Amino acid sequence: MSDLFRKKNINALLAESQETSSGMKRTLGPTSLIALGIGAIIGAGLFVRTAAASAEHAGPAVTIGFIIAAIGCALAGLCYAEFSSTIPISGSAYTYSYATMGELVAWIIGWDLILEYAVGAATVGIAWSEYLNNLLVNVLHMSAIPYQWCHSPFQTSLDGVHGFINLPALFIIMVLSLLLIKGTQESALINNLIVIMKVSIVCLIIFIGWQFINPANHTPYIPAATTYVDPHGISKSFGGVMGILGAAGVVFFAFIGFDAVSTAAQEAKNPKRDMPIGILGSLAICTVLYILFAHVLTGVATTEDFRTGGKEASVAFAITKYMSGYSWLASLVTVAILAGFSSVILVLLLGQSRVFYSMSKDGLLPFGLSTLHPTFKTPYKANIAIFVIVGFFAAFIPGDIVGDMSSIGTLFAFILVCAGVIILRRTDPDMPRQFKTPLVPFVPLLGIFFCGAMIAGLGWTNWLRLFVWLALGLIIYFVYSKKNSKLNNTTTDSK
Ligand code: ALA
Repeated sequence: MSDLFRKKNINALLAESQETSSGMKRTLGPTSLIALGIGAIIGAGLFVRTAAASAEHAGPAVTIGFIIAAIGCALAGLCYAEFSSTIPISGSAYTYSYATMGELVAWIIGWDLILEYAVGAATVGIAWSEYLNNLLVNVLHMSAIPYQWCHSPFQTSLDGVHGFINLPALFIIMVLSLLLIKGTQESALINNLIVIMKVSIVCLIIFIGWQFINPANHTPYIPAATTYVDPHGISKSFGGVMGILGAAGVVFFAFIGFDAVSTAAQEAKNPKRDMPIGILGSLAICTVLYILFAHVLTGVATTEDFRTGGKEASVAFAITKYMSGYSWLASLVTVAILAGFSSVILVLLLGQSRVFYSMSKDGLLPFGLSTLHPTFKTPYKANIAIFVIVGFFAAFIPGDIVGDMSSIGTLFAFILVCAGVIILRRTDPDMPRQFKTPLVPFVPLLGIFFCGAMIAGLGWTNWLRLFVWLALGLIIYFVYSKKNSKLNNTTTDSK
């Protein structure tokens, strides 16, 4: 039984990380960390899931959903910051929890992070496919990719064509996986350029779109509580408190990636001061932009639009339909979004490969996943495995399903991280902490409450999906990982 809670030794972990990263320089200051966060954050959540949350859960009140999601992220972010400053290595919640809460919790978090990173990458890949079609049709004036080749088998067009496979989504995932295998890392310069481009586009839409807000679309701002039956026949809470919580759960996806900042702790100049600035700063900037953007988008187009013709490539749709004279903006948005989405997918795939690499090194996943390519020195087998998983989700599952799975999985991981801070303050009060989460246990408990409320809002189909995913993970743990754990051969810190 105590095996389940055996821990990786923190000192060994730090020594190991120093060995593997002796070349890493502490070059990132607060501005670069904030840019890193924004680069990973702004993507499909804003440009695709905002319209979905408005259509299926809250109408214009999706803006309130953004506020709730941001509060949940900020509270969890403060907990992440304590972990990442305590164990300042390039890892993730998986690594922190292995050293502090033991193997079983680490496995659950690592397994759950697949939903955040891999399934998240699939979601953005599917969004990329929508905007590629928009580029072909509305910018290049070519014909669209036939519906069946760019949609999952669970989708049907308004005129009755069934989807078969989402080839463009599969394509972009494959190209970016190959890039990762070759070891092309986004340079700070490219990341900064993409960040500037994304933020400029969002600001342009806010400024120009503001004049096109039709007050009728914002009335009532909070729709009365009712239900909406989505195209898969699933009833969802619409309007009222549960509708807003559902919208918060959906747009929570738009914040996924801010924890990428925490994985760069080892490269931060002054992790104690800069990690919380990086995490909370990028969150704060994105929150303000998101609220204004959602206010404009739901003011320009109607909820009904987002259920029908504007369901896909919603932002370009709203500009083209309602903002006459601004077709250049729709074209610019489309091109910028395609580039912006690619960078988000790359960060998510990279995050997933780091997690798989660590889990494989620890013996919890097959060892082959941590072998490095002889020439490129990248974990190419992990990248190929990730391509197969992400490619499957991107090709065959609809974007709204993978998006919500990614949200609920990440929310669950955040809850475990918040709980971890409370537990560790009791079990290891003397562990040196460079950054301390304020007001423990109040802040982590509130984080658990907000993330839990969003999980509640996402509805029973998503609870079921999460449950099945976790059950599958536990079966793999007990059948394979526990027996193959490297800790079987070492003295552990289990308590
Ligand atoms: N937050 C990222 C996005 O919205 C994952 O695409």
